[in-house]
Amino acid sequence: NDLPKQAELNAPLSLIETGREPENKTWTKIVLIIICYIFPLAFLIAADRIWSWTRWVQKREQWLKQKEEWIKQKEQSNRLYQLLKRKRQMRKKIVAGNWKMNETLQEGVALAKEINESLKAEKPNCDVVICTPFIHLASVAQVLDSNVVGLGAENCADKEKGAYTGEVSAAMVKSTGAQYVILGHSERRQYYGETAEILKEKVKLALANGLKVIFCCGETLEEREAGKQNEVVKAELEGSVFNLSAEEWKSIILAYEPIWAIGTGKTATSDQAQEMLAYIRSIVAEKYGNEVAEDTSILYGGSCKASNAPELFAKPDIDGGLIGGASLKAADFKGIIDAWKK
Ligand code: 13P
Repeated sequence: NDLPKQAELNAPLSLIETGREPENKTWTKIVLIIICYIFPLAFLIAADRIWSWTRWVQKREQWLKQKEEWIKQKEQSNRLYQLLKRKRQMRKKIVAGNWKMNETLQEGVALAKEINESLKAEKPNCDVVICTPFIHLASVAQVLDSNVVGLGAENCADKEKGAYTGEVSAAMVKSTGAQYVILGHSERRQYYGETAEILKEKVKLALANGLKVIFCCGETLEEREAGKQNEVVKAELEGSVFNLSAEEWKSIILAYEPIWAIGTGKTATSDQAQEMLAYIRSIVAEKYGNEVAEDTSILYGGSCKASNAPELFAKPDIDGGLIGGASLKAADFKGIIDAWKK
């Protein structure tokens, strides 16, 4: 642009303006460079930085939101897990009385009334069941509030119906208003020759008639001294109840009653009972899975009383007691039930 016009070159360069050394324009150039080059460059760099910074801020916000969502999901699944765990730990706590061959009809009805009244006055923290001789069932059912105290028989026949003089069928038990039946008690195995096979039939009939079964197992003193208690208990369960479907299993309550502790005043220590109940739960888990095992109520029975119940019931696998002698006095029985309040 600065080339001189032909007309301007009308004399030697030294004589005309065009040929003269230009004045020092360094500062002008510097300013020009700054304005034309550094300023736009700085502007571009700044714009670029601002653009990428806003993108980073946007991304960061997105990432923070995702993180928040992820934490929420995790908390939710944690809460769900805790809920599930709590539900599992909420398997039924039960105190069941087994009157055995005690109480006349009148005495039995009076005892049932007394238990019912005291539990109505002060709601228990567990399910309560009383299992009475057959002849008491229908009358006792009349005096119990079934929302407070359940009712059960101590046995039922291994046949459905027919010419079996002296026997009482599961359907008959159910028709009295009873909801439970004790099966496999060691006294029935020992004195009346009830084998695993017979018990299997009884369990089947009881469940078919809508009864819940309190199924007992336990070893003799000799068997414990020989270290065979686990083997014995496992065989008893395998022989009579491990054939059941998972659906049928929902109506099963197990009761571990070491024979050497029944009516002897010799209670298994809480550690011995806990050890066996944990073992029973583990074999139930092997057979039906962990969740079913966690939901199965397992009771301890054998010289259980108000004085030792709190220590026994404090053990994680002991879900209550099957009570003999101490279920024959309302106050003693209530004392055991109250152990769930401690
Ligand atoms: P005791 O509580 O009298 O020892 O009896 C336990 C029992 O056999 C319950 O079924």
